[in-house]
Amino acid sequence: MNTSKMAQRAALSAAILVSAQASLAEEPIKVGMMLPATGTYAKLGNNIKNGFKLYVDEQGGTLGGRQIEYVEVDSEANPAKAIDNVNKLIKQHEVDVLLGSVHSGVALAMAKRAKESGTVLIVPNAGADNVTGPLCAPNIFRTSFSNWQPGYATGQAMAEDGHKTAVAITWKYGAGKEMLDGFKESFEEAGGTVVKELYVPFPNVEFQALLTQIAAAKPDAVFAFFAGGGAVKFVKDYAAAGLKDAIPLYGTGFLTDGTLEAQGADAEGVKTALHYADALGTPRDDAFREAYAQAYGEQPDVYSVQAYDAAQILGIGLEATGGDIANKETFTAAIRNATVDSPRGEFTMSSSHNPVQDFYLREVTDGVNKVVRIASKSLSDPGRGCRMK
Ligand code: BEZ
Repeated sequence: MNTSKMAQRAALSAAILVSAQASLAEEPIKVGMMLPATGTYAKLGNNIKNGFKLYVDEQGGTLGGRQIEYVEVDSEANPAKAIDNVNKLIKQHEVDVLLGSVHSGVALAMAKRAKESGTVLIVPNAGADNVTGPLCAPNIFRTSFSNWQPGYATGQAMAEDGHKTAVAITWKYGAGKEMLDGFKESFEEAGGTVVKELYVPFPNVEFQALLTQIAAAKPDAVFAFFAGGGAVKFVKDYAAAGLKDAIPLYGTGFLTDGTLEAQGADAEGVKTALHYADALGTPRDDAFREAYAQAYGEQPDVYSVQAYDAAQILGIGLEATGGDIANKETFTAAIRNATVDSPRGEFTMSSSHNPVQDFYLREVTDGVNKVVRIASKSLSDPGRGCRMK
């Protein structure tokens, strides 16, 4: 081939590339939000939606040069409907990204389908350990926590506060069991004993009989996992049963996050461990809280933060690929290598794509989750069963 033909070919290839990039830029990225809009986790779902959209709106509605479009499905926090719901998003709506969910059982179904289909999945809450364990995959990321993490951090804090015996109470489903296991692991490592484990079917809120058992067991402290509407009821019932001043109540932070207004004085003094708190006082968090309050007329909570960061990592991946989400290797590498500038404080991703982050011990003081100390520094989920390195 002579030099002028070669030059013509090179010019043609460059023109094709430019036109492919231009047509890519015209196509929106479809984000399939599979979040609860009804039931005990409805408020959590709403705040996740708000947090995600806030970040995208701050970038002018585009990430990596691509417009962001939303398709929403009510997950109802119902694992039995999860496969049908996620298939609807993948097959019918042909979404580029799955965002969800709140409930661990729903997230497991989403992770299974994401792993099979290769669709990018970002989990903005549900902590199911297996999502970043045996189900881990290059296209699956979590910006929240594994259930093991806040459980483990709470056990460390309770032991450090000098408690030797505890009763643990939780909803009887994956998230509750895994948080309880994480709690037990660190509490027992520190010499503590869990004298009783109590379970309530999800999403029931009939706590009376179990509160009577707690009073009879007289432990040094109580560990609890409940969230959303269930957490409001549990904290109120705990106080009404006369236990608030008798047996210190601890829990993973979901017990008092996004719930304090409804719990009122009954929540004062409750101690929880979480990767976020209300009054961090950093410029990054202050700016986020102000922007969120301006956009939605209320303060954000941990769910809003996790979702804001889900949009941030999507932006990191799309920026690195020039908006080409099909360029999976570059997309994944960019997120794996990133330090995410989160309102909670900076975090990185573990090799199984779960945040490595600080956990704060918080105490409800004057109606806010105030930091007492760092309960666990740079806590990384062990990623048991994940083969990615
Ligand atoms: C879960 O099911 O993983 C979960 C739900 C609400 C708060 C925290 C975890």
